[in-house]
Amino acid sequence: MNSLFMPLLQAHSGWRYIVLLLLILAVVKYLLGLVQKSSWTDMDQRLGLFTTIALDIQVLLGLILLAVAAPLGHLGPTEKFEHPTTMILALIVMHIGWSRVKKAPDEAGKFRTAALTFILTGLLVALGVWRITAAVAAVG
Ligand code: HEM
Repeated sequence: MNSLFMPLLQAHSGWRYIVLLLLILAVVKYLLGLVQKSSWTDMDQRLGLFTTIALDIQVLLGLILLAVAAPLGHLGPTEKFEHPTTMILALIVMHIGWSRVKKAPDEAGKFRTAALTFILTGLLVALGVWRITAAVAAVG
């Protein structure tokens, strides 16, 4: 077995918790901001930025993992196609949404766009994680 495979799998597997935690925090923070009609602060800006970076890192780790694991021959269609497709879709939704947050004309617009962006991203990521963990568990 390729010696890079296990450390990469562990890193990719563990990093999911950072991504999921940041996505949940972002959704809660932006929904609260919207409801409470708060001002868009540096912290709101940074939270969104860190969340996008965390998912970027996870996708990069995933792509390297796929390149390393594919020749080993144990990957099924969920690992090879469905999971990467779902996650790349999540990445695209997140980046399009986050660029719209920057262009939103007012603070309520920023909170609304940010909340919607990270809710959609979070749903896609949760679906991708659920499907891959079920597929991995089924193989044993
Ligand atoms: C394009 C993006 C991605 C690619 C190419 C990718 C690739 C992979 C591959 C090939 C595996 C299977 C490894 C194996 O069983 O040998 C895997 C597992 C996994 N991926 Fe991804 N991944 C991506 C994005 C993500 C994201 C965004 C998350 C979560 C935030 C995630 C979470 C997981 C989890 C939880 C597993 C199961 C790990 C385990 O068995 O413990 N992946 N990924």
